[in-house]
Amino acid sequence: MKKYILLLFLGAQLVLRGQSSGLIADDIAVFYPENYEAERHQPSFAIKRELEIRGKIPRQWTLIPQFGYDGENSTVKIDIDEDVDLYGNGEVTGSLRRNGTSVELWNTDNYVYKKHEGKRLYQSHPWLLGVRPDGTAFGVLADNTWKQDFDLKDDIAITSYGPPFRMVIIEKNSPQEVMHALADLIGTIPMPPLWALGYQQSRYSYYPSDSVRYIAREFRKRKIPADVIWMDIDYMDGYRIFTFDKQGFPDPRKLNRDLHKLDFKSVYMIDPGVKADEDYGIYQQGTEGSHWVLDQSGNAFVGEVWPGDCVFPDYTRPETQKWWASLYGDFMKLGIDGVWNDMNEPAVFDSDNFTMPETNLHRGGGDLPQDIHRRYHNVYGMLMVKASREGILKASPGKRPFVLSRANFLGGQRYAATWTGDNLSSWEYLKLSVPMSLNLSLSGQPFNGPDIGGFSKNADGDLLAHWTAIGVYFPFCRNHSSKNTTSQEPWAFGETIEDASRKAINRRYKLLPYLYTLFRKAHTAGTPVMQPVFFADVKDLSLRGEEETFLLGEDLLIIPQWAERPHLPGGKWETIPFEEEQDDYQATVKLRPGAIVPIADEVFQSTEDYNTRKIVLLINPDEEGKASGTLYDDEGNGFGFEKGIYSLHRFTGSADDNEVRVEIKQTEGSRKLRRVYKIGYIHDGLITYSDWSADEVITLSLEK
Ligand code: GLC
Repeated sequence: MKKYILLLFLGAQLVLRGQSSGLIADDIAVFYPENYEAERHQPSFAIKRELEIRGKIPRQWTLIPQFGYDGENSTVKIDIDEDVDLYGNGEVTGSLRRNGTSVELWNTDNYVYKKHEGKRLYQSHPWLLGVRPDGTAFGVLADNTWKQDFDLKDDIAITSYGPPFRMVIIEKNSPQEVMHALADLIGTIPMPPLWALGYQQSRYSYYPSDSVRYIAREFRKRKIPADVIWMDIDYMDGYRIFTFDKQGFPDPRKLNRDLHKLDFKSVYMIDPGVKADEDYGIYQQGTEGSHWVLDQSGNAFVGEVWPGDCVFPDYTRPETQKWWASLYGDFMKLGIDGVWNDMNEPAVFDSDNFTMPETNLHRGGGDLPQDIHRRYHNVYGMLMVKASREGILKASPGKRPFVLSRANFLGGQRYAATWTGDNLSSWEYLKLSVPMSLNLSLSGQPFNGPDIGGFSKNADGDLLAHWTAIGVYFPFCRNHSSKNTTSQEPWAFGETIEDASRKAINRRYKLLPYLYTLFRKAHTAGTPVMQPVFFADVKDLSLRGEEETFLLGEDLLIIPQWAERPHLPGGKWETIPFEEEQDDYQATVKLRPGAIVPIADEVFQSTEDYNTRKIVLLINPDEEGKASGTLYDDEGNGFGFEKGIYSLHRFTGSADDNEVRVEIKQTEGSRKLRRVYKIGYIHDGLITYSDWSADEVITLSLEK
């Protein structure tokens, strides 16, 4: 009994301590509103570990949230200086700079972004990055899943249709440091399988399975590198998840085997809606286990999605998480490589708001309390992919799971990559895909990209070639198109477009050593793979709104052919001469002064062939003649890298008028590789190569 009282006392202490504002790190503060009730918000979905107050907020701290609450809705206002540039808010339409915009965080199936003036999309990121003129930066995180609006027309104003919530404010010397601090709070992406970085081909839908085989063979025949083919909903039997259409996909195991023989991986779609069909096993199991979200009268909520009337798993229940995860056991054994979780806002067709009523009930369990849908709506997709990932991992413990999700929430990058939903085949959507992916990248989700070529309506060859020509530098690189649209494979529009697409995709495969190294940095430190150009020089204010061009990591600047008036960073960035001849589509890729970027010497047709035995070190020494870079390498799949089976090499370069010299050192990891390197020195637009060498120091003589 005494022990029990003591525990109660300690518990009360913790709650009290947790509710007072304070510093959780030197320059990170948490602010609690007066009426904060932990059980209405915690455990946090965004933040990985519960926050611990370590000190008092210093008096000179400037960003202080002002909280308001009228008994129903809660508000937060933060005054900011007029010259601050704002970014983030996740998946957004419109400009890269968010100043003057507003968004509604309520995950919505928003076909071509037209509903709610494009202010409500598939994901919610209650997060902003602010950058001051001097380059110092801050982060604002609303630890709140409830329906909420962000209004940046004048300062930062958040209105939430739920109880008062806590705010975390990060203060740092640069936006890059803010991103790392965000990653410490919300976690990073798991290391993806290497194949997920390859080029991917999708369509709604390739049907029947022979047309999937045909697509795979065409890529190989035409020598267009590719890694993945995607199976959209028509592979299912009447859109019943975890089933296969008997006519079209009679033998999925054989299909996957055939794809594997051609060095392709397969990704299959799984939606949350379960067809309400008494004769369907998954429905029977789910009903027996009481796994469905309830309506406000306590009955299983029924809503229409692709299969007709559906019920929806209540992923807040630990039992339901477990059940859902278990469904992947037999499924993955068919040789399926990855899973595509779609419609998980959740989308419901026969409703005013395209989703379920806010009054629906989630029963929770474990440490999640029971509450209404308005609280759990924005994390429905996140909870779904969390369970999916667990199930996939359990089914194949030796492999890195790959899940793609349409809906998600701040922190959801821990479970799934994402694409930006149903866009349209037009120039407008091609252009807006750059700021959209950048803001997602600045919101903790580095692994993202649009449907290349556009989903809705018909692409034409010119658009597809231009889109592929920049799509290959996005972290997630997949061509996808809707039913009743023209075919959109790289060869669908004749030879010129096919050649341009091949060239672009070849470049992605050549860049894989660098790209994989970037994903490693995203995994370990939360460094965005795709970065805004202003990251190259945070004090150059002319770069703050640049949204036609972007950075791939910190070393490559990507300039689309269609960029009209790009603001580019100063310094002597050198263009990488990928091909001998220019075409009308390829982006200009520039190498940062001071960078060494490792690329492959050959083009691989898929990541199955990938290796780093022959690496070209592209080098552009800075004004002092110095340059550096790194290369990460591991087995490309599995978890050996967690036990040190990887290699990280560091390159240190120097150049003078006579010689370019690069020193190579393995700085981490136990993986030993036999590798040869050569220097590719780029100067005044020309590239000069050294000989291949296995030495630790390579030199290139510049004497004429
Ligand atoms: C949704 C997805 C789209 C998919 C379609 C059919 O619209 O966003 O990518 O092709 O559903 O499953």
